[in-house]
Amino acid sequence: MFVHILPVNVIRTSYDHKVRSVFTSCKLNNGEYEWLDPKSDAEIVHVTFIDKHGKRTLVNGKIGDNVLYLAHRFGIELEGACEASLACTTCHCYVSDDYTSKLPEADEKEEDLLDLAPFLRENSRLGCQIILDKSLDGIELELPAATRNFYVDGHKPKPH
Ligand code: FES
Repeated sequence: MFVHILPVNVIRTSYDHKVRSVFTSCKLNNGEYEWLDPKSDAEIVHVTFIDKHGKRTLVNGKIGDNVLYLAHRFGIELEGACEASLACTTCHCYVSDDYTSKLPEADEKEEDLLDLAPFLRENSRLGCQIILDKSLDGIELELPAATRNFYVDGHKPKPH
């Protein structure tokens, strides 16, 4: 029996191509888009995450990335317990002052949830509601000292 063994780099390239064509020709699941690299420099949106200990991590996001899933890609501890369905506050973060006015206003549901978030500040937002565009290039997002997961902590927000 003849077995054709491909070099590893050929297998890897073939695999990458297959994965990319799946991603670009099918509807993506939540969080998959953020794993795609920017196609050009023009697409890049630089984001700095600052953890609760002050450690700064600069990442290259891209236009259209959801901040919650971008954070997950780069191992940032932005929890996102409800997976961006606006039912928790574990994606709470502070937006650097220069950028708060560049974001669309929080809708009523986001505001209601933020009211329940520990360590609320004027510049608090839910990370899963921030979608990157070029105007946000250079944004800094700081994580609060703690978040509360309603479901684990035994408290469920009331429906509105
Ligand atoms: Fe739950 Fe953002 S992940 S509201």
